[in-house]
Amino acid sequence: MQKTELIAALDTDSLKSAGHLIDKLEGSVKFFKVGSVLFTAAGPAAVDLVHKRGGRVFLDLKFHDIPNTVKGAVKHAEAMGVYSVSLHLSGGGEMLKACADLEKRPKLWGITVLTSFDEYGLFRAGFRGGIDKTVKNLAALGLANGADGVVCSPLEAWRLRNIHGAKIKLITPGIRPEARGDDQKRAVTPAAAREAGADFIVVGRPITAAPDPAVAAAAILKELK
Ligand code: C5P
Repeated sequence: MQKTELIAALDTDSLKSAGHLIDKLEGSVKFFKVGSVLFTAAGPAAVDLVHKRGGRVFLDLKFHDIPNTVKGAVKHAEAMGVYSVSLHLSGGGEMLKACADLEKRPKLWGITVLTSFDEYGLFRAGFRGGIDKTVKNLAALGLANGADGVVCSPLEAWRLRNIHGAKIKLITPGIRPEARGDDQKRAVTPAAAREAGADFIVVGRPITAAPDPAVAAAAILKELK
């Protein structure tokens, strides 16, 4: 079974609190996610902060725009030296290909269906095929157009692994060591994500909101072994 890496989401709203979180996780966590909350609050300084501490960055800004615009954003992400960026696969094959064709670029991770969706939510958003089929179709579109990985729930990850084998990197948010009853509707445990074939799990609140983030991260890392 492949190794599953932990990406800790720095979902804080200041550089100071992000720095405190990195202090607690330094040494055990290598990958940090800078998402729209921290990036909107602090800008590229948030990426620099992680790099200065020796970590790697998943820039999770979930790009979804016309091909030329997303390509421009991905170029700047490359200039910042991030490891990976996220794009919504529903932005289409052309959008993805425009980024994949860049000579130098970070890894492109395509979002399939957000883990906060359940079947009814997806239907109400106008998608008619159901979660499994929509994830499968978007992942195939991503792979055909140069995505390096796809973001989905572990509930769908095992099926994508069966279909695409080692050709696909699987990134799974919606990780809950214990049920929290929050906005993540398709959540599973770290161990279940590993068994489903996840290459990376993305974990936010179970670490950021824990009384001791270092202890919470250590427990998750133990479950991944
Ligand atoms: O706090 P929680 O563990 O739910 O955080 C999950 C993180 O992963 C959030 O920062 C969220 O933006 C991100 N994410 C997600 N679903 C995706 C892609 C990223 O929950 N499909």
